[in-house]
Amino acid sequence: MCGIVGYTGYREAYPVIIKGLKRLEYRGYDSSGVALLNTGLKVYKKKGKVAELEEDVIGKDLHGHIGIGHTRWATHGEPSDRNAHPHLSNSGNLAMIHNGIIENYVPIKNDLLKKGYSFKSDTDTEVLLNFIEDIQQNNNCGLEEALRIALKRIVGAYCILLISKDDPETIIAARKGSPLVIGIGKGEHFLASDASPIIEYTKEVVYVNDYEIAIIRPDELILKNLGNEKQTPFIQKLDLELAAIEKGGYSHFMLKEIHEQSETIHDCLRGRLLPEVGKIMMGGIENHIDALKNAPRILIVACGTSWHAGLLAEYMIEELCRIPVEVEYASEFRYRNPVIHKGDVIIAISQSGETADTLVALESAKEKGAFIFGVVNVVGSSIARLSHAGAYTHAGPEIGVASTKAFTGQITVLTMMALKIGFAKGTITNERYLQLMNDLNAVPEKVAVILKNTSNIERIAEKYKDAHDFLFLGRGYNFPIALEGALKLKEISYIHAEGYPAAEMKHGPIALVDENLPVVFVATKDSYYEKIVSNVQEIKARKGKVIAVATENDTVIPSMADDVMFVPDADEIIAPLLSVIPLQLLSYFVGIAKGYDVDKPRNLAKSVTVE
Ligand code: M6R
Repeated sequence: MCGIVGYTGYREAYPVIIKGLKRLEYRGYDSSGVALLNTGLKVYKKKGKVAELEEDVIGKDLHGHIGIGHTRWATHGEPSDRNAHPHLSNSGNLAMIHNGIIENYVPIKNDLLKKGYSFKSDTDTEVLLNFIEDIQQNNNCGLEEALRIALKRIVGAYCILLISKDDPETIIAARKGSPLVIGIGKGEHFLASDASPIIEYTKEVVYVNDYEIAIIRPDELILKNLGNEKQTPFIQKLDLELAAIEKGGYSHFMLKEIHEQSETIHDCLRGRLLPEVGKIMMGGIENHIDALKNAPRILIVACGTSWHAGLLAEYMIEELCRIPVEVEYASEFRYRNPVIHKGDVIIAISQSGETADTLVALESAKEKGAFIFGVVNVVGSSIARLSHAGAYTHAGPEIGVASTKAFTGQITVLTMMALKIGFAKGTITNERYLQLMNDLNAVPEKVAVILKNTSNIERIAEKYKDAHDFLFLGRGYNFPIALEGALKLKEISYIHAEGYPAAEMKHGPIALVDENLPVVFVATKDSYYEKIVSNVQEIKARKGKVIAVATENDTVIPSMADDVMFVPDADEIIAPLLSVIPLQLLSYFVGIAKGYDVDKPRNLAKSVTVE
């Protein structure tokens, strides 16, 4: 969380930084700020979104060829002007921005207070900055050395950018746990939390690793480890086009990303799924097929929407590969000292590849000898780099805070994985393998059919937008989709929503049902169909309002439901890729009908890089 941007070069820094911050706003939008260096060091910051900062600085001196900027997701200290970054050191010589959390900031702050330091904000960042300044003054050393000493003494996660009045061309950056990309131009350098602010200027980038410090000047990039040894920067070419991070005519990124899914699923399958020759080509799996097919157990570690994809993978892998699977919330897994046996495989699922809970869970599992397979969207991200092997979801940049196309990308990859491992293991028949491959191959076209006309879903959203609560119910492969539908609605519309296995409803949640409660059934034609028909009747008997996701041409569910969203027919293993789409649209339209900013829901951030 939090987005950071830096620039040093021949251009005016302010426009580069502001544009970059807008691209990174999905990482947090509680406040934003910039620091610019020319004859002096100027800091402008404001509570709220970047647009509010832009308005606030009209008429002010924004000149400078070096600067740093920050868009914040608040951790320490409420969202306010004074807690916004950048922060200035007590001498006024240094300015710093930070993405992460300094866990031991309290004793450091107390020491500094005793020494006479004062603090304008409640942030851990201002403490770290003054700690660095104090070390610099006491040790009479340069800023780089002071930073190195400070970083060895702090506990926590950080990506920081630091500028000093004494060195008006240099940005010093450091990272541990929070991402940092450096873009290399001719006579200029760009720094950012991800590549989106950089892409329009250069495609050559360096991903900074944990425990590295970068000293960046217009013509120079020096990378060192915390032991002051030079590291060779590994320059990579970005495979990303500017259009991919723009709205492309849609009113919101979320809507654009929902509509891209026919294409993104196709991109994910392309060159991998080859039903005509009965093959699935996935290097990450082929190279490790023995470890995967002989795994005594698979653990899936993820958070949020990615966890829902993991739950679906559990159903698929257990059915198709007959390997026991456990799905873990990364935040719990990392702290509860889990039992990891030799040979266990961990599948890590993450859109951003930077989620702190997932990342740290994997680090400790890796230390214990587990084999890590990453299913990640962001190429070159921390989880992708930490994994022993993996498969990218190829969904392209996902900017809307609510995950949509990344989720269907994850399911697509996980389905191919389950099929490939199951086939290699001999736990599925050739016939079923080919049938599922063909069904999967047909998904992009079927998604396009759902997206062709969304007016019925818009109407349903308008009808139920004032409900206070929603229940989402599904069985089997549709249960994770019910959970995902509830999460999407909560995030985007702020309506309380719960997802349950449909049969669980009578063990408690049914007490909530009355004529005001909309109940969304994910009720496509599958092996549980008769059972879910009974569950719908149980809700209708209690006057609940039923909204159903049903299979085209089904007549039974539509005859009972108050409103229906149809999806094309598909095998029950493949159907979730279709049934989730109306639910994404439902939450989008409810959020819009309620007048909310669906791309930037309150209190959320796209990339959760703090615990
Ligand atoms: O980047 P990740 O997939 O690791 O993120 C995990 C969750 O933070 C994420 O899925 C979150 O739940 C989304 N806001 C869901 O829309």
